[in-house]
Amino acid sequence: MSQICPDLISFPESPATHPDRWVLMNVHTRQCIGAGPEVLAVLADPDKTTSETYRVWKIWRFSNIDGLLADPSRFKRDAATWGEPENLDHGTLVKMLKDQCLLIDDLESYRARFDFKKSLLDRQRFGTYHQQLGQQLIAFERRDPTAWWLQQKFTPDLSAIRQDNLYGAVQDRFLDEWLPKRMKPGLRVLDLGCGAGTIAQKMARLGASVLGVDPNEEYIRLATERAEGDATFQVLDLNQPRALDALPAASFDCIYMSDALLFYFVPYEPGKPLDLAGFIADVKRLLKPGGTFLSLEPHPVFYVQPWLGDPARPFTVTTEYLHTHWRINPPLSVLARPFLDSGFVITGVEEPASSRSDPHVPQRDAVFASEFPVWLLLEMKLADAAS
Ligand SMILES: C[S@@+](CC[C@H](N)C(=O)[O-])C[C@H]1O[C@@H](n2cnc3c(N)ncnc32)[C@H](O)[C@@H]1O
Repeated sequence: MSQICPDLISFPESPATHPDRWVLMNVHTRQCIGAGPEVLAVLADPDKTTSETYRVWKIWRFSNIDGLLADPSRFKRDAATWGEPENLDHGTLVKMLKDQCLLIDDLESYRARFDFKKSLLDRQRFGTYHQQLGQQLIAFERRDPTAWWLQQKFTPDLSAIRQDNLYGAVQDRFLDEWLPKRMKPGLRVLDLGCGAGTIAQKMARLGASVLGVDPNEEYIRLATERAEGDATFQVLDLNQPRALDALPAASFDCIYMSDALLFYFVPYEPGKPLDLAGFIADVKRLLKPGGTFLSLEPHPVFYVQPWLGDPARPFTVTTEYLHTHWRINPPLSVLARPFLDSGFVITGVEEPASSRSDPHVPQRDAVFASEFPVWLLLEMKLADAAS
């Protein structure tokens, strides 16, 4: 016996121009279709045929492929671009609604699908965000995730952060304003998980003496090729035992980490937790007295929520906060607590957001990110040094 999926929402996509084009979305799985209002009647009573044909638009797309900070709603925006609908009979419609988890036969087996994927080709289990992205990139699009990540964040020559998405509109602008207040000539900085070194270079241009480390040899090769000022780079995998032992104690004024600490809280590979306590002990050992740990991580309220509503008045549907099943980053208290318990105090907090009217990025992105901060910056010092 079919029933409406309890995770379903429906909303008109472009009510001013196409009042008869609705989106039906499963907010947990992000599956969706475009539908005429006659389809809504079928949701109310799936066994009853109320029309000869039903209009459906196949609008589902894996929009995160556009970038980690691109509109994550996973459907084709603007009903004017949907093209012609398919006209389905009742049986075909019900099958499609079931395929998209908008109608379900059995709540228990539907719930069982909320589990880690067992392989790259597993389409039965919904899996984590990273598994979904990995499946899309590697199995379906045959793209190299390492190269993809660089392309969605940086300009082709890697000298700068792209300005046409929220990396530029939020992170880059924030860093350009904020880093000069913290960096100064001679400051010794360690950038952990530095990627291809673009942010490390930004700090070096402000006079800091920066060591960037990352396990990805290609990223370090690119970073080294472009190194200028006092910036050096080294292949180093934080997950290897004693990875940081070669660096002398009390040798850094500042340890910086962006979009990399999250892996200690939500492991990239499900079920393989990383050693957070060991990591924090390393940070404490490496910091000079009075030194600072700077953590810039995706903001728990922002990341991978569907962005809905009018572009000028967007809203989101939050499906999880304290228990991170699908998101990739921890809630604020879970992020901060291990550091506080290890003797750090938080000396600064920032929530970088965008300007509503940023002309470089789509209006929806700019307005959405002006309300929901994209990153969370925590500035921490060891308690005895901070007092
Ligand atoms: C999302 S990128 C962020 C890169 C850079 N910090 C930035 O903000 O542009 C995550 C980085 O963490 C690095 N990373 C992943 N596992 C790591 C590990 N075990 N040790 C050090 N870095 C790691 C990746 O290679 C990647 O460069």
